[in-house]
Amino acid sequence: MQDFLRNLPKVELHLHIEGSLEPELMFALAQRNGIELPYATVQEAKDAYHFNDLQGFLNLYFQGMNVLRREEDFYDLAMDYFKRAREEGVVHIDMHFDPQAHLQRGVPLETVMSGLLKAKQEAEATLDLSIGMIMAFLRDRPADEALHVLEQAAPYWKMLDAIGLDSAEQNNPPVKFVEVFKRAKQLGLVCVAHAGEEGPAEYIKEALDELGVQRIDHGVRCIESDEVVERLRSEQIVLTVCPLSNVSLKVVEDLRDHPLPQLLREGLKVTISSDDPAYFGGGMLANHTACAEAFSWDESVFRQLTKNAIDEAFTTPERREELLARLVSL
Ligand code: HPA
Ligand code: ZN
Repeated sequence: MQDFLRNLPKVELHLHIEGSLEPELMFALAQRNGIELPYATVQEAKDAYHFNDLQGFLNLYFQGMNVLRREEDFYDLAMDYFKRAREEGVVHIDMHFDPQAHLQRGVPLETVMSGLLKAKQEAEATLDLSIGMIMAFLRDRPADEALHVLEQAAPYWKMLDAIGLDSAEQNNPPVKFVEVFKRAKQLGLVCVAHAGEEGPAEYIKEALDELGVQRIDHGVRCIESDEVVERLRSEQIVLTVCPLSNVSLKVVEDLRDHPLPQLLREGLKVTISSDDPAYFGGGMLANHTACAEAFSWDESVFRQLTKNAIDEAFTTPERREELLARLVSL
């Protein structure tokens, strides 16, 4: 099974590139940029990665990315993850990034974009990895600010595949961002949003109705509403489920209690991603292996999950065909 899972041409639809910052690279970048970290050692940083909820994680996530200052830092961040993911058999990544988290610290948008785009270009040319770009907005910040950043990103619109919505979900309903998503649609951008991670099933429905999203990130709390489950099934909306993330942030107590098997039985279009692999105990391979153990899934389940992700990935028709052919020939 381990060999099969490694060889499976895995497609990751839900990855925050800032959440792929391993403590080792954090220390290297802190030194390069003359920044003092709140940890004395790599081990001390790793030991701090225990969370009670989403906000507890977000505090460390925003603190960790403080070492990202220059274009080459963003390039190194992304390349470091791309190489690791490729070694685990990942063939495509739709990458979220959080411009507001960098703008707030005085890091210009051009610095972020040029570093990430350079890494994308190099990965696509040399690593047999395709990359989608999702510019995410922080839902606990004002909608006006998001709209301003979207306008500011005009030079990069054609390099973006989608906009997304992340950060603290509770009390920040999708409807707050109606104007931002309307503008993104006008620009021809696809829309996705985190919903139903810590927030209620109602937020999933709202993201579909009010924001017109084509994909729901997480979405596991749909299980609390028959109506929402039916909606997701009938429209075959993709859910980007992140099993180890949900355990780390206590969305579920234990992976064996995770609703994933039930979501599959309900006929939903489920996929598996790592979310923030540096913080939640591993990347795509670790997430797949953990599911194989917790749910005793056989190869056919993983083939279906991978097929779902290939169908949905932000890539060209040619690349999609190629990835499907690889899956079928495995
Ligand atoms: N949820 C919300 N915001 C985030 C996450 C997440 O899992 N990861 C990074 N930002
Ligand atoms: Zn996420």
